Amino acid sequence: MIDDVAKLVAEARSAFASAANLKELDLLRVKHLGKNSLVKRLKGELRKLPSEAIPAHARLLNDAENEIQLYFDVTRAVVAETDLDARLVAERMDVSLPPRPFAPGTAAEGGIHPIARTMEELTTLFGAMGFKVAEGPDIESDWHNFGALNIPLHHPARQDHDTFYVPAVDGRRPVLRTHTSPVQIRTMLNEAPPIRVIVPGRTYRADHDATHSPMFHQVEGLVIDRNIHLGHLKGCLIDFLRAFFGIADLPVRFRASYFPFTEPSMEVDIGWSRKTGELGQGGDWLEILGSGMVHPKVLANCGIDPREWQGFAFGMGIERITMLKHGIPDLRPFYEADIRWLRHYGADPLSPPSLVEGV
Ligand code: DAH
Repeated sequence: MIDDVAKLVAEARSAFASAANLKELDLLRVKHLGKNSLVKRLKGELRKLPSEAIPAHARLLNDAENEIQLYFDVTRAVVAETDLDARLVAERMDVSLPPRPFAPGTAAEGGIHPIARTMEELTTLFGAMGFKVAEGPDIESDWHNFGALNIPLHHPARQDHDTFYVPAVDGRRPVLRTHTSPVQIRTMLNEAPPIRVIVPGRTYRADHDATHSPMFHQVEGLVIDRNIHLGHLKGCLIDFLRAFFGIADLPVRFRASYFPFTEPSMEVDIGWSRKTGELGQGGDWLEILGSGMVHPKVLANCGIDPREWQGFAFGMGIERITMLKHGIPDLRPFYEADIRWLRHYGADPLSPPSLVEGV
């Protein structure tokens, strides 16, 4: 019996030692320690022995089983480590390799939508000038969208907006925001000046043709600080437009205009050729955005003292600047989710806008 048990232990031990990996080792554990293993079966047969022989044999078998378990545990620790080493070698990854341009999800398959790309560029350029991104809801109160911006109920400016009204709640009619300007109000109500934000986002007007879509995108800009004047507005917008279009001497013209929420107000034009569509030369002007010094009444509506704080604001259509920058002739494909169009006009996700390389 003693010999048999010693052999049993030796067999299990050499079996464990021969296991090539954890899976094999686990199968051997079942064989040598499991319910149907030889030790377990011998223990089951103990009761067949004369009763005075049982304790000694039982001890022998228990010791053998413990020994096998110990060999198993030790072997398992060693094999686990070897397994890990092998995987670390096999799955080694060189993180310094450049990305593969034709990998799934990259430009060859589709691309970053031009609207999303322009938003990234806006964030990059204005971010470098100290602006952060602010957001607001698409469904707005009449007060945020119009009233607080100094556009009272019967103001003619409301007619220009072709507003989508939402069914009334508590007697008030919310609107799908007709511009990103209500986020000026929300920001000024929530934050103490100085303020420097841009607001890229969706806007809605009941208008549909080759150059208008009922849903479109704008970016708003708002700067509130002490001693802010028209020079800051002009410098900021000229720098932005030249960097965005990548034309260092892009002609920029400020033309007196009217918006209820700014005083004075200016529309901004850039130089282009009406004939060829080329930007930066040709002697024609193209209107591109609205801007002005924030109206004192708007500041007061937000609890900001206009004698202490001044600022400027601007708003522009994201589709428009995107179409101009990339020579996209028609607005409608922006919303058609056509993969061929996206392959053509989409941006490479592996080359995000960069201040160093240009946006
Ligand atoms: N909200 C105006 C629009 O949708 C654009 C605009 C003009 C925004 C002048 C401004 C601004 O912030 O100062 O037509």
